[in-house]
Amino acid sequence: MEAKPIIAPSILAADFARLADEVGAIEGAADWVHVDVMDNHFVPNLTIGLPVVQSLRKSTSLPFDVHLMITDPQRWAPGYAEAGAYNVTFHAEACDDPVALAKTLRAAGSKAGLAIDRDTPVEPYLELLPYFDTLLIMTIKAGFGGQKFLPEMLAKVRDVRRRIAAKQLEVRLEVDGGIAADTIAEAAEAGADAFVAGTAVYGAADPAEAVRHLRALAERAGPSHY
Ligand code: DX5
Ligand code: ZN
Repeated sequence: MEAKPIIAPSILAADFARLADEVGAIEGAADWVHVDVMDNHFVPNLTIGLPVVQSLRKSTSLPFDVHLMITDPQRWAPGYAEAGAYNVTFHAEACDDPVALAKTLRAAGSKAGLAIDRDTPVEPYLELLPYFDTLLIMTIKAGFGGQKFLPEMLAKVRDVRRRIAAKQLEVRLEVDGGIAADTIAEAAEAGADAFVAGTAVYGAADPAEAVRHLRALAERAGPSHY
């Protein structure tokens, strides 16, 4: 199946006091807006939660790609689906029964995503792919923006891409962490077809132009997948 690359700017790198404007700056250029929810427990950082997502949801038509870096996602994730998130991704390391939660999220009206952190092997989760709409491979250690891309994570991307192709699954393969103009091509070549970028978009003078540039680089690098 052919799939055009998805570019999902992360508002973690945006100005939190001007979130609606910051999302407005990528409207028309980006495919999704990536929302990093951190609870200062699963990761040692604290960002935003459901009330902010609910408010921001009203200010844009861009689909929300919510990335939950939280413990106990069974308890909290469905609320984001009910708030109108397009996709809700929770971490494999935080969940005893990922398939059950994926089903709950789909029943609540969103797509379901599974995230794999830097130190977690992907093999045990390949069997679960049919229950998910997105699989997110962290290309850094989850918790903070602005970290250096880890190319060794691309072995996981290749493994997942092979499985998606072999089973002809409709799963988006997303990469998150250090994605920028100098790294997006290798991620696309490895088989990623959704790209989160925080610093590379919101650190740029023109965020929409940065999105367009990243998209062009991904399209050029990943012709066999698109
Ligand atoms: C970090 C978050 C990322 C972060 C990426 O744990 O999941 O989405 O915003 O930021 P950059 O693109 O700066 O690495
Ligand atoms: Zn993220």
